[in-house]
Amino acid sequence: MDHNKLALPVGTTLDRFIMRKQEDFPYATGELSQLLRDIALAAKIVNREINRSGLIDIAGAYGSQNVQGEDQQKLDVIANIRFIRALRNGGEVCTIISEEDDEMIQTGNNQGKYVVAIDPLDGSSNIDVNVSIGTIFSIYRRVSPTGREGTAADCLQPGTHQVAAGYVIYGSSTMMVYTTGNGVNGFTYEHSLGEFFLSHPDIITPQTGAIYSINEGSSDSFSPGVAAFVQYCKDQQFSARYIGSLVADFHRNLLKGGIYVYPATAKNKSGKLRLMYECNPLAFIVEQAGGKSSNGTRRTMEIEPQIPHERCPFFIGSKELVEKAESFIANDKEACDHKPAPEPTPKKATTVK
Ligand code: AHG
Ligand code: MN
Ligand code: MN
Repeated sequence: MDHNKLALPVGTTLDRFIMRKQEDFPYATGELSQLLRDIALAAKIVNREINRSGLIDIAGAYGSQNVQGEDQQKLDVIANIRFIRALRNGGEVCTIISEEDDEMIQTGNNQGKYVVAIDPLDGSSNIDVNVSIGTIFSIYRRVSPTGREGTAADCLQPGTHQVAAGYVIYGSSTMMVYTTGNGVNGFTYEHSLGEFFLSHPDIITPQTGAIYSINEGSSDSFSPGVAAFVQYCKDQQFSARYIGSLVADFHRNLLKGGIYVYPATAKNKSGKLRLMYECNPLAFIVEQAGGKSSNGTRRTMEIEPQIPHERCPFFIGSKELVEKAESFIANDKEACDHKPAPEPTPKKATTVK
């Protein structure tokens, strides 16, 4: 009898994987590893809240709007608190910028070497209808000296400066996918053990694909180039797939090959998605997986951010498809002009106990 068949190995846990990767960097002090573990812990808690949201009173609207004028859901607020608390208690992060907060959040860890940009819950409109939602995060090393609070310069670095980025997808299974600039790895959550296990090692995205993901409800206000690219996808008989949760649409295309587009529209003149919380982290991941990300004319990660909540048009996915989209919009100024949104009126930041 083969004993291994009686008791199959469970595989590599996220914690062990992070530890092993740390050994690849001889002078690494372990702070980034700890930070990633803090994020994974918060993700497990948020996953628990999401799973039982239909049973307790945490579904639905919170009754307020975030700085971008969008209705906040209770789970947006809960996820924001969970991630801020985990990062503050971890001690490695001096400052956080969050899609749900108007201002920078100072954690009080002035010795912390890192800053984090986070979309605590992505796909809010899908929370109440049991469709996949996510968390997206991005980690930068601070540029200001330690010993004092993080600054705007620490938080407003271009995506090329990211030291790590990732997302969690709360879907048919819950996964965490991340990169530290040395490939992309995906981990699936095992509920009964309470651990993420390596399930998708060294993710490489197909160079091309046959899926396009765009909200065609806004097609009346697409620029001529974007409209022509969508027509190209139809002519090629691509499949249209659009859930309305960026993480889920991105994750599918990353694994299967395809392109996700959120262009400038009449309603969202600079596109809808946020450079710091959504576009840059996914751009880092897609590039590490062999794909491409751009605002139509420029590599996403080279855009110099002006404000934390800045938006930009977003074309991301298989390299050939993003290049094809860029070729359609090359003369299409309207689709690619990068105009940061005006500075919003500052309100106060979340206080987490
Ligand atoms: P968030 O829930 O973090 O505000 O993000 C919602 C985003 C993104 O997840 C999704 O791809 C996009 O909004 C959908 O927008 P449309 O409804 O305009 O297509
Ligand atoms: Mn989002
Ligand atoms: Mn969000």
